Amino acid sequence: MSQPLIELRNIYKIYQMGEEEVRANDGISLTICRGEFVAIVGKSGSGKSTLMNIIGALDVPSSGEYFLGGEDVSDMEDDELAGIRNKMIGFIFQQYNLLPKLNLLENVELPLLYAGVPAQERRERALASLERVGLKEKWKNMPSQLSGGQQQRVSIARALAGSPSLILADEPTGALDSKTSRDVLNFLTQLNEEGNTIVMITHDSSIAMEAKRVVRIHDGRINFDGDVNDYAAIL
Ligand SMILES: Nc1ncnc2c1ncn2[C@@H]1O[C@H](COP(=O)(O)OP(=O)(O)OP(=O)(O)O)[C@@H](O)[C@H]1O
Ligand SMILES: [Mg+2]
Repeated sequence: MSQPLIELRNIYKIYQMGEEEVRANDGISLTICRGEFVAIVGKSGSGKSTLMNIIGALDVPSSGEYFLGGEDVSDMEDDELAGIRNKMIGFIFQQYNLLPKLNLLENVELPLLYAGVPAQERRERALASLERVGLKEKWKNMPSQLSGGQQQRVSIARALAGSPSLILADEPTGALDSKTSRDVLNFLTQLNEEGNTIVMITHDSSIAMEAKRVVRIHDGRINFDGDVNDYAAIL
C-alpha cells in the first residue's frame, strides 16, 4: 500500500474518576495510509470520540505514540497541535459548526485566515471550494438560510478549502435525513476517489458500509479491522 498518513502505536487514554480508572482508549495501534477511506465504528461509550480527538490533534494520549504525516504529535503543546490541525486536517462535524454571523464565503475562508493565507487567495480558494459542493452562487447567504444538507456541504467546502491531508468526519450524517445523508456520503466517496484520505466516525453500521475499510472499537480496543465486505459478512 501507499505511505502511512496516520500511525497510532499503543495509544492509551485513561481518565481517573475518583477511585476508578476509565480506559477510554486501551492500547490502540492503527495505521492508515494516504488515499484510504476508513470508518471507525463502535457502540456508545466505546471510545470513538476519544480516538477521533487524538487523530484530529485535538487532544493527546495518556501514553503511546502518534505520527501524523511522519510528524510526532503525541507530545505536542497546544499551539503546535493547533498548527498541525490547521495545516493537515479538514473537520466535518455532525452539527456543521458554521458561524451564524458569517456568510458562506466567510465561513469557508475561516481556516485559511487562521493559516495566514492572503486575502485575495483566500477568497479564490474559498469560492472554488464552494463551487465543488455546488453552492458558489449562494456565497453571500447566511448559514440559517440553508437546508441541513446544504449547511453540511458548506462545512465540507470549509474542510476542503485548506487542501488538507486528512478529512476527519465525526457522524457527518447524524443530523440529516436519509436522502440527504446519501448525497453527503456520495460526495465523500467522490472525494476519496479523487485521492483524499477520509476517516469517518459513526455508530451506524449502514453508514460505515460506504467506507472501504472498517475499524470497530469495543471497550477502548480494536476488535475488528478489515475490508468493508468482511465487515458486512459478520453483521
Ligand atoms: N473527559 C472525560 N472524563 C472522564 N471520562 C471520559 C471523558 N471523556 C470520555 N470519557 C469516558 O470514556 C469512554 C469513551 O468515551 P467516548 O466519548 O470516546 O465514547 P464514544 O464511542 O464516542 O461514544 P458515543 O457514540 O456515545 O459518542 C466513556 O466511558 C466515557 O464516559
Ligand atoms: Mg462520541
